[in-house]
Amino acid sequence: MTAGHHLVVEGLHASAGGKAVVKGVDLSVSGGEVHVVMGPNGSGKSTLAHALMGRPGTTVTGGSIRLDGLELVGIPAWRRARAGLFLALQQPIEVPGVLLDAVMAEALAPDGSEEPTAERTPAGIEDRLRREAAAIGFDERFLRRALNVDLSGGERKRNEVLQLGVLRPPFCVLDEIDSGLDVDAVRAVARRIESATEEWGLGVVAVTHFHRLLRVLRADRVHVLVEGRIVASGGPELAEELEHTGYAAY
Ligand SMILES: Nc1ncnc2c1ncn2[C@@H]1O[C@H](COP(=O)(O)OP(=O)(O)OP(=O)(O)O)[C@@H](O)[C@H]1O
Ligand SMILES: [Mg+2]
Repeated sequence: MTAGHHLVVEGLHASAGGKAVVKGVDLSVSGGEVHVVMGPNGSGKSTLAHALMGRPGTTVTGGSIRLDGLELVGIPAWRRARAGLFLALQQPIEVPGVLLDAVMAEALAPDGSEEPTAERTPAGIEDRLRREAAAIGFDERFLRRALNVDLSGGERKRNEVLQLGVLRPPFCVLDEIDSGLDVDAVRAVARRIESATEEWGLGVVAVTHFHRLLRVLRADRVHVLVEGRIVASGGPELAEELEHTGYAAY
């Protein structure tokens, strides 16, 4: 099942805007696993996602993030992406003037360590974009647009998942990938991510507020983040329970 990849987070502390937000998080995700992070608004879920990816503006103040033994703390986001980590933002940003297929071509460009393959040619990338768009019901017209420009909230989310399918990274961090999606889109996106866990052993850290996503995307572990700390971890039943009880107990 697993491609043998491991993402290990230990004692992670991170601040945003000078404020300590993530206060000692441990996570261990293997290839093919889905870990879900839930928690009240403002508990630090997005900041945790940003810290994992090295988003500028979020500072890691302690701990480590290792991907197959490689320390990611201190290296820039683009190198983390090259190392195999993909981040889908809670609010994907517009990048005027930059076309989606150009971004994919650049991301897939051989970095010297690997042979160029048929899949990495412009035609190969175009083909993958089309297949991925079809899988999640993303209108092909949008492939020709500048990144996220003039796309609706839900279309941007689908665009993130499309990129995930084309890039096929070992790990992804998905920040509320289900927010703003209609019911059918949630199902399609969840199904695509679920199948990726088997297809190439994708490891997933998914932040969500809704149990609905987890009807299709099956969680191996559910973690509850409150005030920057994981206060409970369990199986999928924990997400179910939270749906009914809320976070009052924490
Ligand atoms: N750049 C920043 N400057 C100051 N405070 C920040 C900054 N970014 C985040 N925070 C604060 O850190 C806390 C955690 O924010 P974060 O976005 O990580 O929460 P969240 O768990 O993702 O919430 P939500 O469920 O609403 O998305 C909040 O109190 C937020 O106001
Ligand atoms: Mg958030």
